[in-house]
Amino acid sequence: MTIDQFNQQAKVVLNQFAADLTGGQIDQTRYFGKKGLFTQLAKQIQQLPSEKRGQAGKLLNQIKRDLTKNIAATAPLNQATQQSIDFSLPGNKPKVGHLHPITQAINQISRIFERIGFIRVRYPEVDWDWYVFESLNMPPNHPARDEWETFFIDRPDTTGNVAYDPKQLTKRHPKMIDGGKLVLTTHTSNGQVREMERLGKPPIRMINIARCYRRQQDATHTQMFHQFEGLVIDKGITIQHLKGTLDYFAKEFYGPKAKSRIRPFHFRFTEPSFEVDFSCHICHGTGFVNGQKCKLCKSGWHEVGGAGMVHPNVLKAGGIDPDQYTGFAFGWGVERTYTLREGLNIDDIRHFYNNKVKFLEQF
Ligand code: DAH
Repeated sequence: MTIDQFNQQAKVVLNQFAADLTGGQIDQTRYFGKKGLFTQLAKQIQQLPSEKRGQAGKLLNQIKRDLTKNIAATAPLNQATQQSIDFSLPGNKPKVGHLHPITQAINQISRIFERIGFIRVRYPEVDWDWYVFESLNMPPNHPARDEWETFFIDRPDTTGNVAYDPKQLTKRHPKMIDGGKLVLTTHTSNGQVREMERLGKPPIRMINIARCYRRQQDATHTQMFHQFEGLVIDKGITIQHLKGTLDYFAKEFYGPKAKSRIRPFHFRFTEPSFEVDFSCHICHGTGFVNGQKCKLCKSGWHEVGGAGMVHPNVLKAGGIDPDQYTGFAFGWGVERTYTLREGLNIDDIRHFYNNKVKFLEQF
């Protein structure tokens, strides 16, 4: 064999390789396998006259480098194409998320009340003492305030801000000295007088759902939680309207068998005042499941929150004439309302706010 013949054969191998490269199908063994094109070319070297072998060897080395480089460059591409055309492979199901359970509950509660004409509102979560306590018939230093373990916060400069400037507040409420302190809202009742001010006059049908804050932290309490607050003010509003609304909510949220009950209680901002119970979602108010005491309630009922007829002093604080108008209000926690429906005996309410997906994805 002459060196020219050898070069000729090398060219054939390179041409073949170039063709394979454009076709995108490079099979390593086709070149480097036992009977591969390159392997065979390399064997030819022995048939050359010995003084030509060095030259041929150089050429072989160069070809080898070229082939290896190109094969390496196309390998990942080949793998990817092969995978993407295997239609028999099961797909990778993307994980589907959902809203946080408490957000779901808030949405459901809003919708239930919106269906009977309530309007969902939001008010500040950092609010004046005036709205959180004083306008609700709890003057400064009144012992009733102790029930709410309150976070007080430092005052920012709010001059000129209509909603927050204490001077503006004092103009509207001459009895109020300077708005008092700023607090993190301990309950959603701060929305009551704010809503009266927003609308100016009845009719009012408000549902205020917001975060609340209290200085408490144990297994059944978190420093942040949610409440919803209903307020209805109009001519001729009575306890019957309150009871009807509570029953309606019970059935819509807990199912057609659910009932509500009110028991006398005391709040400064309502007169008369009640505590509100709902029949247990698991034993339907009987206290028993298959002859055994119900594990969720023990008595057939769950106490959920407070309610009552709006106190005349609260109406006055909101600029509404208590001789012309009456109203009812209610308020309680979203978390508890929700866990009762799910029949959950959650040992630690803080699970809701740890952001552990393993817990949250169950709902
Ligand atoms: N704000 C009260 C609380 O956080 C609950 C409450 C009681 C709200 C009676 C009301 C009401 O609107 O009328 O404990």
